[in-house]
Amino acid sequence: MKEGIFLGKKNYILGIETSCDETAAAVVADGNQVLSNIISSQVDLHRKYGGVVPEIASRKHLEIMDLVIKEALETADLHVSQLHGVAVTYGPGLVGSLLIGIVTAKTLAWSLNIPLIGVNHILAHVYANLLEHEEIETPLLCLTVSGGHTDLLYLEEWGKYEVLGRSRDDAAGEAFDKVARYLGLSYPGGPEIEKLAREGDASRFELPLPVLENSFDFSFSGLKTAVINLVHNMEQKGLDIPRADVAAVFQKTVAQALINKVVRGVEKLGVGTVLLSGGVAANGFLRAELKRELDKRQVQLFYPSLPYCTDNGAMIACAGYYLLQKGIISSLTLDADPSLTLSC
Ligand code: KG4
Ligand code: ZN
Repeated sequence: MKEGIFLGKKNYILGIETSCDETAAAVVADGNQVLSNIISSQVDLHRKYGGVVPEIASRKHLEIMDLVIKEALETADLHVSQLHGVAVTYGPGLVGSLLIGIVTAKTLAWSLNIPLIGVNHILAHVYANLLEHEEIETPLLCLTVSGGHTDLLYLEEWGKYEVLGRSRDDAAGEAFDKVARYLGLSYPGGPEIEKLAREGDASRFELPLPVLENSFDFSFSGLKTAVINLVHNMEQKGLDIPRADVAAVFQKTVAQALINKVVRGVEKLGVGTVLLSGGVAANGFLRAELKRELDKRQVQLFYPSLPYCTDNGAMIACAGYYLLQKGIISSLTLDADPSLTLSC
C-alpha cells in the first residue's frame, strides 16, 4: 500500500475532526501508527436536548480545540514543528463545527508551511480500516453506516471508488437515534438500543424489512415509522411496552436490510473482501451477523476497533496521509462543505 514520497522517513500527520459533536485530534505516523487519538465528546452537553444542538457544538469546539491538539501532540511526544501535514474534515457535517476545525488546520498549515489536506469525513470512515489492517487488498466493498450516512461503496483500488447505493432518507445511525429517543433511551441511541436489545427477544414481532428492489439504495424512515406505530398501538391498548423486544427486533431488521445489500453486492461484483465502517459499525450484532453471512461465502470482513468506528482524528490523519501520498492537497482557501457527499 505504501509507496512513493515518504519512504525512508517517518511522516507525521495531525488529523483534526470537528464535524459534529466530537472535538478530536490525532497524530498518526506513516498512515497507520496511531501515536495519539484524543477525543473530547460533547455528548453530555447535548444529551438533555435529545440530539446535537449546532450552536452549542461549535462553541464547545472553539473552547477546547487548542487543548485537544496540545494533548494530541504531547501524547505523541512530538513538537508541532515535526508535523509533515495537517488533515482536517471539511464536510459533511455541521457548518459551524466544521469551520472551527478548518480554521485551526489552515492556521497551523500556514504558520508551519506544511500541506493542508481537506478530508471527506465519509471517506475517512472507510480509511479507518487501514489503521489496523494495512494489508487490506482491493477490490472490495465497503458499507459505511454512521449517524449521517449510509453508503455502499465499491473500491476498485484505494482512491478509486464508485457509490453503489446510499440511504434515500434516514441514515442507519439516525434511525437508531430516533427509535431510541422514542423508546425513552438517551442520546446517542445506537449503543443504548444495542444494550437493551441484549435482553430482548428479536423474534417477538415482525417489522417490515426495507427492500428497494433492484437497487443498492437503503431506506430506513419507513422502518422507524413502523416501530412508532407498533409502540403506539400497544400504548392505545394499555399494554406494557416490551422495550427490550422492540429494540431487538428493530436492530435485527436494520442489520438484515444492510446485510442483504452487502451480500447482493458481493454476489454481483465477486469481491472477496468487505469493510464495515462508521459509528454503527460499533454494533456487535451487526458485526457478528454480517460476518456469519460472509463466512458462508468465504468473503473476508474487516471493521475498525471501537474507538475508530465512531468519529475520531486518527481516521482523518490516515486518509490525509494517503491523499498526500497521491499529491492531493488543499489550498488555504479550503471551505466547509456541510453537504459534501461521495461522488457517484
Ligand atoms: O460515525 P459517527 O460517530 O458520526 C457520524 O459520522 O454520524 O456515528 C454516530 C452514529 C450515531 O447515530 C450512533 O447512534 C451510532 O453511530 N452508533 C451505533 C452504535 N454506536 C454508535 N449504532 C448502533 N450500535 C452501536 N453500538
Ligand atoms: Zn462519522
